[in-house]
Amino acid sequence: MENQDLLQRSLKAVWHPCTQMKHHEQLPLIPIRRGQGVWLYDMNDKRYLDAVSSWWVNLFGHNHPRIKHAIKQQMDALEHVILAGFTHEPVVRLSERLAALTGLGHCFYASDGASATEIALKMSFHYWRNQDQPQKRRFISLQNSYHGETLGALSVTDVAIFRDTYAPLLLETVQVASPDWRLAVKGESAEQYALRCAADLETYLSQHHTEIAALIIEPLVQCAAGMGMYAPIYLQKVRGLCNRYQVHLIADEIAVGFGRTGTMFACEQAAIKPDFICLSKGITGGYLPLSVTLCTDDIYQAFYADSSARGFLHSHSYTGNPLACSAALATLDIFEEEQVLAANRQKSIYLKQKMATLRSFPIQHLRQIGMIAAFDVETTQPDFQRVFYQKALSRGVLVRPIDKTVYLMPPYVISEEEIDWLVAQLAELLTEMQLT
Ligand SMILES: Cc1ncc(COP(=O)(O)O)c(C=O)c1O
Repeated sequence: MENQDLLQRSLKAVWHPCTQMKHHEQLPLIPIRRGQGVWLYDMNDKRYLDAVSSWWVNLFGHNHPRIKHAIKQQMDALEHVILAGFTHEPVVRLSERLAALTGLGHCFYASDGASATEIALKMSFHYWRNQDQPQKRRFISLQNSYHGETLGALSVTDVAIFRDTYAPLLLETVQVASPDWRLAVKGESAEQYALRCAADLETYLSQHHTEIAALIIEPLVQCAAGMGMYAPIYLQKVRGLCNRYQVHLIADEIAVGFGRTGTMFACEQAAIKPDFICLSKGITGGYLPLSVTLCTDDIYQAFYADSSARGFLHSHSYTGNPLACSAALATLDIFEEEQVLAANRQKSIYLKQKMATLRSFPIQHLRQIGMIAAFDVETTQPDFQRVFYQKALSRGVLVRPIDKTVYLMPPYVISEEEIDWLVAQLAELLTEMQLT
């Protein structure tokens, strides 16, 4: 089958995500037949370097033998079973290992990131209700935050293009200053700016904490805001404030968890433990949909009672799917046995050196943490995002700028040669774009 044939059928039959479908009258879809390592291959075998890890999910490359093998083996034993009233070994083993890694416990599973956010928000509200504090029902998030797009998750998301249309349907929430260092005044260090934002949060909490259930944040990187990075001290301050004002801290590590920022979880860089952690995306190495919300024992205990109504009666049909759990277990095995974090440290130094060669272009805020690198292009071109994306594709690179931010978040298996090639493509693209 040719590219053209499949893309026409896709346009007729599939409603693609995050897309104004009419734009595909000009912008062709790319039909992918197979993947291998960091590469995706279309129907005509043209290849694309997947520099966005297929929406930040893929860790160890496409067609990974170990994860594939684990899923196949699990398939021979059990593909799925209801998790209410039943259990199975993959979900138990995964829960034990995630608890050991995060210091939290009692994994509550769903299939996508937004559901994990919803679960954390509902659990937090319900916890306070079970504690006879039903007035604690409001949520705080950061400006420019992104936590998913179902109605609850969208209520704590602050990205206008996703949120504005649905605003009348959403919960009333509060957004406090984002510590994203790009928003600092000239001359202000990342730490100084983070402390200023923490002071703003304190002012708000000191006046409103009695009605606040939780604060939800993306630790260290606000990815959908355009890879907005901030100083770990902000997390430490936030942890202290949440303790002082009795507000839950929900760490949304859906995008930054599983090694993206250099540590297994971003919170580790601030040596803090949240009350809830939401995980998804990389949890299965990018193989199958799975998400999970973990919480403290104190929170779990507040639901443990004779009364059903005090329990957390939330559910999804595919909760704790054994195939997805087996992919997650294989992913954790790879982390443990192949020293992934140590290897990534070297790779991220290499990536940083290469990215530094782009400084001669009209870019600002060249920044990196772990395996996420980004810069903001200085241009007045209104269609920069679309043009850059298209030109990159024609060179065999899958990058999706967020507004004027170009970022790389490749699978960890990217080689030094592939980094060289990728950064060389970015340099040629920046030249070709004739930026103004
Ligand atoms: C920080 C964060 N939270 C939540 C989500 C939502 O995850 P999903 O797209 O799986 O619903 C995302 C997705 O990009 C994310 O980056």
